[in-house]
Amino acid sequence: MAEKLRLAVLISGRGSNLQAILDQFGPQITDSPIEIALVLSNRPEAAGLERAEKAGVRTLVLDHKGFPDRASFDAAMDREIRAAGAQFIALAGFMRLLSDDFIHAWRDRMVNIHPALLPALKGLHTHERALRRGLKLHGCTVHFVRPEMDTGPIIAQAAVPVLPEDTADALASRVLAAEHRLYPHALRLIAAGKVRVEDEIARVDQANAGTLCLINPPLD
Ligand code: GRF
Repeated sequence: MAEKLRLAVLISGRGSNLQAILDQFGPQITDSPIEIALVLSNRPEAAGLERAEKAGVRTLVLDHKGFPDRASFDAAMDREIRAAGAQFIALAGFMRLLSDDFIHAWRDRMVNIHPALLPALKGLHTHERALRRGLKLHGCTVHFVRPEMDTGPIIAQAAVPVLPEDTADALASRVLAAEHRLYPHALRLIAAGKVRVEDEIARVDQANAGTLCLINPPLD
């Protein structure tokens, strides 16, 4: 089997996307195309740390509050990620802005999941805003990270319906379930070498691999 992609996952909280990644690529999966080299959190209380420990994956807390500025925090993260032997980064609910230097250093080797169909609804509170705008479809996006927040070549998207009776919480959990399918799917494509960036467009060498359409209930 080809060499595994050595991945660092960066978290700040709950870690449900991390869990989806652990379930598909954790140490217990013998034929995994990915090895999770490190789970790094900027918050010591992040629940995701326990998930990683339970799965037997190395964890590290770098509390940003202990650093004088963003540059020194990012430099420390960079050092640790490299020391762990990681070649690729997945942001999974990492709630800190990254410096341009860090983003450039990991260009095309760092992805994020955003809870909306980009380029619509960048930023926070996407589910509330989707409802307020009367959107009929909502979803999530896995994209390469660029300095401008929630931009960057789009690798894969999953769409879910917005239902008339939806609350923000109901919509959030429908999107989250889609995230848990989409993120491992996108990482698998990357590990297989099927994703490349050309002129700031992510090309995926597999028919329809960038789309996951979860229409539920199905249309008549
Ligand atoms: C997810 O909704 C993800 O799209 C966003 O942050 C949230 C993280 O949730 N970037 P979790 O920590 O993975 O449960």
